[in-house]
Amino acid sequence: MLTTCTTPLPALSPPALWQMLALVADPIRFFARQQQRYGDTFSAQVLGWRSPPVIFTGDPEFVQAIFTAPAEQFALGKVTQVFQPLTGDRSLIALDGAEHQRQRRLLMPPLHGDRLRTYGETIAAITAEVAATLPSDRPFTIRQPLADITLQIILRVVFGLTAGSRYDQLRVRIGRLLESITDPLYSSLFFFPPLQQDWGSWSPWGHFRRRMAAIDALIYAEIAARRLGDAYRDRADILSLLLAARDEQGEAMSDRELRDQLVTLLLLGHETTASSLAWALYWIHSQPEVLSQLRAELAGSGETEALTQLPYLNAVCQETLRLYPIALIAQPRVVQLPFGWGDRQFAPGTILVACIYLAHQRAATFAQPQQFQPQRFLDRKFSACEFFPFGGGSRSCIGAAFALYEMKLILATLLQASQLYLAPQAPIRPVRRGITIVPSGGLQMKIAVNR
Ligand code: HEM
Repeated sequence: MLTTCTTPLPALSPPALWQMLALVADPIRFFARQQQRYGDTFSAQVLGWRSPPVIFTGDPEFVQAIFTAPAEQFALGKVTQVFQPLTGDRSLIALDGAEHQRQRRLLMPPLHGDRLRTYGETIAAITAEVAATLPSDRPFTIRQPLADITLQIILRVVFGLTAGSRYDQLRVRIGRLLESITDPLYSSLFFFPPLQQDWGSWSPWGHFRRRMAAIDALIYAEIAARRLGDAYRDRADILSLLLAARDEQGEAMSDRELRDQLVTLLLLGHETTASSLAWALYWIHSQPEVLSQLRAELAGSGETEALTQLPYLNAVCQETLRLYPIALIAQPRVVQLPFGWGDRQFAPGTILVACIYLAHQRAATFAQPQQFQPQRFLDRKFSACEFFPFGGGSRSCIGAAFALYEMKLILATLLQASQLYLAPQAPIRPVRRGITIVPSGGLQMKIAVNR
C-alpha cells in the first residue's frame, strides 16, 4: 500500500493502458478532463498497471509541501534517465542528493543576478541579426528563427563561442540533432532502450551515436583550448565561469562534468525558451489591445537593461508561461522517506508530481483561466505554489532567471525591429513537440514593416 489516508485520493477509473495513451496523445486534454472530474489532486495509473500510481496535484498547499520538503525526501526516479544518452550521467538532471546539490551550487551563479546584465547586449544583437533575415514578401514559420536565436544565445553566452569554424559547426550539428530528437519516431529511440543498438552508421542508434560523438569532439576541443594557458580567466561566459569555479573542497569540475552540464543547458535551455517565445508572439498578436499597450511601453524605453524592468512586458511573459506552460509538470519526485501531507501518508516508492498545468488552470487562483490577461500579474502577486512555470524546491529550473531575462529582451528587440502579424492559418492549438507544448503548425507570421 503506497498511500494511507482517511480520505482516499480520487483515482482514474479507465484501464491503465488507456490512461497512459490519453496522457501521451494529448496531455493538455488529459489534465483538463481530470481536473474537471476530480479536482486539483488525483491518482492515475499512467506508467502501466504493474507500476505504482502517479499522484498529480495542482493544489497550492500540496505543491508547497512537495517543494519545501528536504532534498533527501525524494529521488528523481527513472524519468530523466531517458535523456542520459544525450546529457551523460554527470549531468545535473541525472544526479540526486549531495552530488546534485554540489553541481547546482557551481552552475547557479553564472545564471543569476548581476551576471545576467553582461549577456544583455549579446542577446539583443543576435535577435536583431536574425530579425533582419526574416522574409518580408511571404509568410514564414516563426518557430525556426526563434530556435535559431535561442541556440545562438546558448552557444555565445553559455559556451562563450565567437564566430568561426567551431561555432558554425556546432550551430549546424546541434541544430540538426535537436530538430531530429523532437521527431516522434526518432525520439522513440530514447524511450525504448531495446532500440538502442549500434549496428553501424546506417542503424538509427549508430547514426545518433556518431552525431553525438562529433558534437562531443567539438565541445571537448573547446574545453581544452580554454584550459590552455588559463584562457578562461577574465571571460564572462558560463563555460569560463565553470572552469574557474571551485566547490567547498576546492575541487574544479572535470572535463566530463563540464561536457555533461553544457549539453544539459543546451538541451533544456534552447527549445523551452524558443517555444515560450512562440506562444508569447501568438498571444500578443492575437489581442490588439495587448500589442498596443506593449508597444506604448516599449516606445518609452530604449536601453537594453531598462527593457528587462518593464512591468507590462514582464506581465506578458508571466501570463504566457501561465496559460500554456512549456513544461506541463515539474520533474516527478519518487518518495524515499515516508512523506505526510494533511491526513495522507505516502510510502517510499510513491510518485508525486507537482502539475504546473493544473495549478495554472485553477479558477480559484486565476479567474477565467483560459483567457490571456497579462493584467492579472499587475493586479496581484501569486505565490510560488500557485504560479510555478519553472517548478520549485531543490530541483527547480536553474535557468529560470536567465530564461525570463532572455524572453523579455528577445520580444522587445523583435517588436522594435519589425511589425509582425499573424498570417492566415488553421486555428492554433497547443501540441506536444518533444518535451514542450508548442503552438500547432509552428505559428505562421508575416512582416508588415521592417523598421
Ligand atoms: C521558458 C523557459 C524554461 C522553462 C519554462 C523551464 C522549465 C523547467 C521546469 C518546469 C523544470 C523542472 C523543475 C522542477 O522539477 O521543479 C526545469 C528544470 C531545469 N531547467 Fe528549465 N526551463 C526553461 C529554461 C531553461 C534554461 C534557459 C535553462 C538553462 C540555461 C534551463 C535549465 C534547466 C535545468 C538544468 C533543469 C534541471 C534542474 C535540476 O534538476 O536541478 N531551463 N526547467
